[in-house]
Amino acid sequence: MLGNFSYSNPTKLYFGDDSLSFLAEELKKYGNKIMLSYGGGSIKRNGIYDDVVKVLKDCGKEVFEDPGVMSNPTVDKLYEGCKIARENDVDLILAVGGGSTIDYAKAVSVSAWCDSDPWDKYYLKMEEPDNRIIPVGSILTMVGTGSEMNGGSVITNHEQKLKIGHVFGEEVMPKFSILNPKYTFTVPKYQMIAGIFDIMSHIMEQYFSGDDDNTSDYISEALMKSLINSSRVAVKNPEDYEARSNIMWTATWALNTLIACGKATDWEVHMIGQAIGAYTDATHGMTLSAVSLPYYRMIAPYGLHKFKRFATAVWDVCIEGKTDEEIVEEGLSAMESWMKELGLVLNAKELGVTYDMLDGIADATFIFDGGYKVLTKDEIISIIKQSMNY
Ligand code: NZQ
Ligand code: ZN
Repeated sequence: MLGNFSYSNPTKLYFGDDSLSFLAEELKKYGNKIMLSYGGGSIKRNGIYDDVVKVLKDCGKEVFEDPGVMSNPTVDKLYEGCKIARENDVDLILAVGGGSTIDYAKAVSVSAWCDSDPWDKYYLKMEEPDNRIIPVGSILTMVGTGSEMNGGSVITNHEQKLKIGHVFGEEVMPKFSILNPKYTFTVPKYQMIAGIFDIMSHIMEQYFSGDDDNTSDYISEALMKSLINSSRVAVKNPEDYEARSNIMWTATWALNTLIACGKATDWEVHMIGQAIGAYTDATHGMTLSAVSLPYYRMIAPYGLHKFKRFATAVWDVCIEGKTDEEIVEEGLSAMESWMKELGLVLNAKELGVTYDMLDGIADATFIFDGGYKVLTKDEIISIIKQSMNY
C-alpha cells in the first residue's frame, strides 16, 4: 500500500430480508417532514411503496411525494425536486429506488438551499456545497451503482448533451441505507445484468491502475470472483436469495471508497459510457459493457502484468506454456464469454449510437490519467467504432 490516505464512511447499513424493520428507529433522528422520492412506479407495483408509507405513517411523519425520478436523472427533474424540498422545508429525503433515485436525492439535498444554479455550481464548476444540506436516507431496490454508500451523484443535461457525476463528501452520503435483497427480485433481467456489469466495471476501474502490491487489489479479486459466481446463479434464477444478496453486498463494497484506497484509479470506461449516455440516454451498465472489451484490449499492452494477474487470479487461466500476451487474451476472452452468457450489450449500435455522434461523444468524454494509458480522441472514437462493428 504505497501512498497516504484517510478512510471513513458514515453510512449506516441495514442488510437482509428484515432490514425495513430498522426504518422506524432511523426516522426518529429526523424532523417530521419527509420527502419521499422514487422512480417511475416499480415500487407501487411490487408493494415496497405500501410497506414504506405504512412505516412513515405509523411514525407520524408528514410525507411529501416526489415521484417520477427517471433513469439517468435530468437537471429539469432536479429543479422540480428542489422546489418541493424547499417549499416544504423537508427534514429528510427518503430515496426508494436504484442509483438514479439515490443520486438524484443527493443532488436535491445539496441544491434545494443553494442560491446559485446547481448544475453550473456542482456539475460544471465542480464546486463543493456551502449551504444547508438536507440529509438523505435510502431504501435500495436495484443493485449496481453503490450509490447507497457513496457520495456519487450523476445528473444528465440533455440540452447540453452532458452527463456528469459529482462525488460529494461525507456530509452528502446517505445517513442510512436499507438493503433488502428480496426487493431486487422484481428488477427486469436487462436492468439486473446491466447492474451486475456496472459492479464489475467499478471494480475493474479501480483494479487496473498502479503497480504496487496493494491489499485493495486482493479485495477486488475476491469481490469479482463472488460477483461472477453469483451472477451465473442469478441469471438462471432471479429469486435465488443467496445469489441476489451476494450481488447486493458486492455492489456496495465495489464503490464505497474501500477498494480505491491506495489506488490511482482509472474510470475511463465510465467516462466513455457517460458520454454515450448523454447522447443516447442508454442504460448505464450497458454503455459500459459495450465499450469495455475494445478498451481493455487496447490498454492491456501498457499494463500487461496486471492483466496477466487478472487472467489467473479472477478467471483461473492456466499459464503453462503460454506467453504473457496469450494469458492476457485468454483472461479477456473468459470475461467476454461471461458477458455473452449474461446477455450484456456488446455492440454500441444497440444503444442507439450512430456514426454521426462519434465526434460529439469523444468530445464529451473526460480524459483521465489514472489508468495504464491516457487515451487520445482518435482512440476513443476507435474504441466505440470497434464496439459498433462487434
Ligand atoms: O423507475 P422505476 O419504476 O423504479 O424503475 C427502475 C428503472 O426503470 C427499475 N427498478 C428499480 N428497482 C426495481 C425496478 N424495477 C422492478 N423492481 C425493482 N425492485 O430499474 C430501472 C433502473 O433503475 P436505475 O435507478 O436507473 O438504475 P441504476 O441503479 O443502474 O442507476 C443508474 C444511474 O446511476 C448512475 C448512472 O449514471 C445512472 O444515472 N451512477 C451512479 C453512481 C454513483 N452514485 O456512484 C456510479 C455509477 O457508475 C453510475 O454512474
Ligand atoms: Zn457505474
